[in-house]
Amino acid sequence: MKVGVFDSGIGGLTVVKSLLEHQLFSEIIYFGDTARVPYGSKDKNTIIRYAIEAVEFFKNFELDMIIVACNTVSAYALEEMRESASVPVIGVVEAGVLATANALSNKEANVLIIGTKATVNSKAYENSLKKLSFTNLNAKATPLFVQLVEEEIYKGKILEATFEYYFEGLAHPEAVILGCTHFPLLSDALRNYFGEETLLIHSGDAIVEHLEREFSFAEKFKEPILKFFASENPDALRKIANEWLYEK
Ligand code: DGL
Repeated sequence: MKVGVFDSGIGGLTVVKSLLEHQLFSEIIYFGDTARVPYGSKDKNTIIRYAIEAVEFFKNFELDMIIVACNTVSAYALEEMRESASVPVIGVVEAGVLATANALSNKEANVLIIGTKATVNSKAYENSLKKLSFTNLNAKATPLFVQLVEEEIYKGKILEATFEYYFEGLAHPEAVILGCTHFPLLSDALRNYFGEETLLIHSGDAIVEHLEREFSFAEKFKEPILKFFASENPDALRKIANEWLYEK
């Protein structure tokens, strides 16, 4: 099984990490559109155009599927990507919604969705969760978290102040959907802030759960081939991949 993983930049490596932990693929081709990140502040048409270009890029490889690690792209461009691809295209939003529904039996549980402005404005998570009868949903765009993670700020005063800025006055959530590739790197800090009992829904784990349900993986691949491509500065991507995948 050979998979292409697409993200607007480096954040999708958090999804690659989950794929590696579960040893599902023999080869992972990662493409980060580092020249044009962030997507989370762009409009729908631009996001769709960039996403279709990513599908074209992946046509250079004989893939079995494409995973869209980027929540923003998953929220806006999945259908269009599916129309131009000849392999299954799997997005993190659907997977995250199903993981939330599997984890929470109480449909009145307070669920907080955090993501980029575009993801939150799309209401992709909210609409799908409402269809599954969830009634108590809050969504908050928290774009500063992307910058903090890119600055490798995973704890400390600036992060705590940003938590206060975004979350002060919000009802205490029973679950938080980490609706952005970068946010799993803030899991420890979010757990400290909200408390251990708050469930964090991680796109990478959600996608693995979804893949294992939908496809049959007969083999495990302990040492898959990993190839990293970026539209700008691929060396920086490879360096971060080494840190995030093997050290964090
Ligand atoms: N990868 C994006 C996401 O998951 C975050 C970074 C961006 O804004 O492009 O929504």
